[in-house]
Amino acid sequence: MAMDAFSKSLMADKREIIIAPTIYKFADFGEFAEQFQLGERDVVLTNEFIYKPFMEKYGLKCHYVFQEKFGVGEPSEAMIETMYETIPYDSYDRVIAIGGGAIMDLCKLLGCKRPSSVHELYFKREPIVHEKEVIAIPTTCGTGSECTNISVAIVKDEKDGVLTGGETKLGLVSDDIIPNKVCLIPDLLKTLPYKPFASSAIDALIHATESYLSPHRKTITSELFSVKAMEMILKGFVQIGEHGPDARLDYLDEYVTASLYAGIAFLKAGCATVHGMSFPLGGTYHVPHGESNYALFGKILEIYDEKDPDGELMHFKQLVGSILGCEAKDAIPALNALLEKVLPLKPLREYGFKESDIKDFPVSVMAN
Ligand SMILES: NC(=O)c1ccc[n+]([C@@H]2O[C@H](COP(=O)([O-])OP(=O)(O)OC[C@H]3O[C@@H](n4cnc5c(N)ncnc54)[C@H](O)[C@@H]3O)[C@@H](O)[C@H]2O)c1
Ligand SMILES: [Fe+2]
Repeated sequence: MAMDAFSKSLMADKREIIIAPTIYKFADFGEFAEQFQLGERDVVLTNEFIYKPFMEKYGLKCHYVFQEKFGVGEPSEAMIETMYETIPYDSYDRVIAIGGGAIMDLCKLLGCKRPSSVHELYFKREPIVHEKEVIAIPTTCGTGSECTNISVAIVKDEKDGVLTGGETKLGLVSDDIIPNKVCLIPDLLKTLPYKPFASSAIDALIHATESYLSPHRKTITSELFSVKAMEMILKGFVQIGEHGPDARLDYLDEYVTASLYAGIAFLKAGCATVHGMSFPLGGTYHVPHGESNYALFGKILEIYDEKDPDGELMHFKQLVGSILGCEAKDAIPALNALLEKVLPLKPLREYGFKESDIKDFPVSVMAN
């Protein structure tokens, strides 16, 4: 496969790790808007409930569009087509994404030339051509999408070029869609309700863990980002375990920074079994991304521990033990007990999971 221009330039530099966007941090939206001189040729994709408390008061001339106009939940083919119709390509020069992973992923597409159809784009029959600057501002602390090279959508499934009538979740991958700039504004997370906060922070912890436990793909620098992200998130979780959900409010800067670090780590080292196994669960039963990963995380760590307790996992257990104040051998049960305090784990059957899925899901994971 031909390498895109950005990847080529990185290979030429022989960089250890890709951190493509320039990263900024601001105290609030106003400070960001002033620094970036937001104006008429900027389109800001966000949610109305984020716009109202944080942006409305500045009365800026930029073009605000609310994601809920196109439908709720994760991006779908229909949602993206409606977004394209609502926001004509020649009406803006810059794209500003202010929201969760779904909004980040939609804005990556707004930065690219319009394809003849979303379906053709996701099935890689049309090239991705990035043309407009994308500024990503996450308001959850999980996906790391602000720095990744992937945009995920639920699209009509096809087999041998024929639509099957079903749907599938696909990631459009290209280094060209990594946002140009990332701005961290911890203030914007103040309104994030506790449950999406907790499931997104656990998602970030899983990114850091899976990239750390990836002996073949991790590099000396991706490991640094994984370790720092795990330390920051677990320290925050200990606070929540001791003082309750409101303890997160004084620590939002650390959470949003840690989720970016975890995104940087997994961009290099990739994710593993937990993310792989969570796709059929999320796709079949519409379980939100962070929650579907969490449903599998603890059990998968226990299985790793049964299989090879002294391998790569030992370093992970030592690290977790040192943060949680326990011995390495007790680190995985202690971690699972802490996560249970942060977000009580639901049994799989409560999501609709059936006994037959135990056989069918692994087959789908291996196939896809
Ligand atoms: N591109 C990538 O690298 C990547 C990686 C993982 C997941 N994803 C995608 O990201 C999406 C999941 O992202 P997410 O976990 O951030 O969830 P999300 O974008 O669906 O947001 C979670 C919920 O929180 C609300 N919300 C977000 N910020 C808020 C705020 N500040 N105040 C109040 N409410 C707020 C949202 O409206 C939504 O209801 C999925 O579509 C998934 O496929 C992308
Ligand atoms: Fe994830």
